[in-house]
Amino acid sequence: MLSNFVKKLFPPKDIIGVDIGNYAVKIICFHEDKKVLKLKDWGYIPLSIKPDTSPEEKKAIISQEIKTYLKKKNIQAKYTAASVSGNAVIVRYVKLPKLTKKELDLTINVEAEPFIPFDIKDVNLTYSILNESTEEGDPKIDTVLVAAKREAVQDKIDMISGAGLDPLIVDVDSFALEALYSRLAPKTENNTVLMLNLGQKVTNLSIVSQGVTRVVRDIFIAGATFDKAIAKVLKIDAAAADAAKKNRSVLVTDEDKQAAIESFDREGIAVSKAAVGVLKDLYTEVSRSIDFYLSQGTDHSISRIMLSGGMSNLGNITKFLAAEFKVPVEVVNPLAFLSEMPKNIPADVLPALAVAAGLALRKMKDWEE
Ligand SMILES: Nc1ncnc2c1ncn2[C@@H]1O[C@H](COP(=O)(O)OP(=O)(O)OP(=O)(O)O)[C@@H](O)[C@H]1O
Ligand SMILES: [Mg+2]
Repeated sequence: MLSNFVKKLFPPKDIIGVDIGNYAVKIICFHEDKKVLKLKDWGYIPLSIKPDTSPEEKKAIISQEIKTYLKKKNIQAKYTAASVSGNAVIVRYVKLPKLTKKELDLTINVEAEPFIPFDIKDVNLTYSILNESTEEGDPKIDTVLVAAKREAVQDKIDMISGAGLDPLIVDVDSFALEALYSRLAPKTENNTVLMLNLGQKVTNLSIVSQGVTRVVRDIFIAGATFDKAIAKVLKIDAAAADAAKKNRSVLVTDEDKQAAIESFDREGIAVSKAAVGVLKDLYTEVSRSIDFYLSQGTDHSISRIMLSGGMSNLGNITKFLAAEFKVPVEVVNPLAFLSEMPKNIPADVLPALAVAAGLALRKMKDWEE
């Protein structure tokens, strides 16, 4: 009763998820009305920042782009969840000696140091206790350690503040994706899913078994790697390669290849060959993570692969990966849990909104504690 009254006086504020990627800024804001979640605002701002731009200039340009967009669309939400990924962050699932939360708060830097490849002074370190277990008779706790470089976190805070928003939380791309996937697939689902968020500089990989994340890793094979490979074979620049990959498909079956040969599509064949080379490297890296996961003595093998990120639009990528990994592959609709699907979002923008959607699902209470 009282809590309802308090809620009326102080309605929960909407959180805006802002995913500042290397290729585009993605924005999502949900609003809950009578327990029904609706999409309030969304945005996709492609960035075309010249390679010789200084980091400070780059930050200022991004802030300005976001600010202009918010104004143009009359987006009112202020409280923002942003995120870091790639080489700015390390996530490790480790067993530590059993300590209470209080004890661990005091000793976490010492306990975590061997697992963190950065200088512990340069990172923001957080952890979460997942489980208790025993190892050779000794009581242990299973924890997830997250170390994010202070500088990278500060950069995101600066860009968000510079856009006139209030940076409430800086999350990790993989955790935002985890939040999204637990909405999309109920935790009880009895399977193991491999998630690949294919962006411009990084591919975020997670293996989630029955709702519990087992492996989190960022792989540096993504859109830019495809651009480089395509630019090399076609002797064009990266921007032209970026456009070429949007118009082309990976030739997977013999029929696909035969059709390309018969129509003398030399450029299409070259783009496909370059893309296949990159996809094979990606396959090798992803397979390593699958092997690592399987070596932990699990009896669950990967049952399906879910793709998100802009690169999941590459023509025939699902067909190619399904043939390589021999499991079903699908592209995620990050808004599939809404009762009403917004109609005005272009099909190729939708999978790129995954991280922003996961960020926007954060609630005030997530960081009020
Ligand atoms: N229709 C399309 N077909 C093929 N590729 C596409 C398409 N649309 C976007 N992409 C590619 O997706 C990539 C960008 O994806 P995304 O927006 O997820 O990256 P980002 O989040 O900005 O980058 P990062 O997370 O690495 O910082 C680019 O390489 C872009 O060329
Ligand atoms: Mg991204």
